[in-house]
Amino acid sequence: MERVAVDKLTTEMVLARSIYLPDGRILIRKNVGITASIIAKLKELRFSAAYVDTAPNDEKNEPVSDLTRSDVIQSVARLDSAFRSGKGINFLGCKAPLQQMISEITENRNILINLIEIRSLNDSIYSHMVQVCIIAVRVAIQMGYDQSKLFELALGVLFHDIGMTRIASDIINRIGGLTSDEVIQIKKHPKTGYDLILQSQNLPATAGEIAFQHHERFNGDGYPRKLTGFNIHEYARIAAVADVFDAMTSEKPYRHAKTISETLYYLKSQKGAEFDPVVVDALVTAVTGE
Ligand SMILES: [Fe+2]
Repeated sequence: MERVAVDKLTTEMVLARSIYLPDGRILIRKNVGITASIIAKLKELRFSAAYVDTAPNDEKNEPVSDLTRSDVIQSVARLDSAFRSGKGINFLGCKAPLQQMISEITENRNILINLIEIRSLNDSIYSHMVQVCIIAVRVAIQMGYDQSKLFELALGVLFHDIGMTRIASDIINRIGGLTSDEVIQIKKHPKTGYDLILQSQNLPATAGEIAFQHHERFNGDGYPRKLTGFNIHEYARIAAVADVFDAMTSEKPYRHAKTISETLYYLKSQKGAEFDPVVVDALVTAVTGE
């Protein structure tokens, strides 16, 4: 399997990983042969690259099946829209797909997984939260978490950026620099997320802590409260590393994705500085086996 830029795709190639729409529905399933119309569609939707194979039906090592990932993304989107419309919502609506996702990641823990997922530049915050959740769960398994802690962590990480859904999407996806006012707005999303989660009845208190603290940094360089070290909840320390791993390896409107080795190099360089060293070690082992 290799990552190929959309303008380098040819009709001899076969899609190795499914491609998702921002709402979590599958746009094109894996193992489909690339056609001219698929290439045109990917360009139209501003995808930058796709994972392809030259041989069809190659066995893939995926931590989570396409169907389960899609189920979780859609359940988060449904819960958020219920929340926006002011209905009393039950966050445990995503319990079954989330538990399915955790058991798949647990089953596949001995495979060195490719944690990078191809997403559109127009992609939603929901698929970002699900991807960070997958990475966080995999890291926590490496750290020896049992199933009940895994579920509590996953439920919180699944909504860690819910505060971002209340920020105008043109600010989130802006090409070029943001004004200082806009940066202040973005930096409010941890507190906004915490407040939103507090208003719900079914999320554990740790979910609020994850939303509030996932941009805090081990050395106190984070925001909004500049917490340090073990004053930051362990779940939020895991979410921080998973979030940065996903952000760096994702294509952004204003910069290209970093490779896995560039990203791991950066995370390792920040062990004990920005990030909890135990969490960084667990991620490195999950990704490289070392
Ligand atoms: Fe965030």
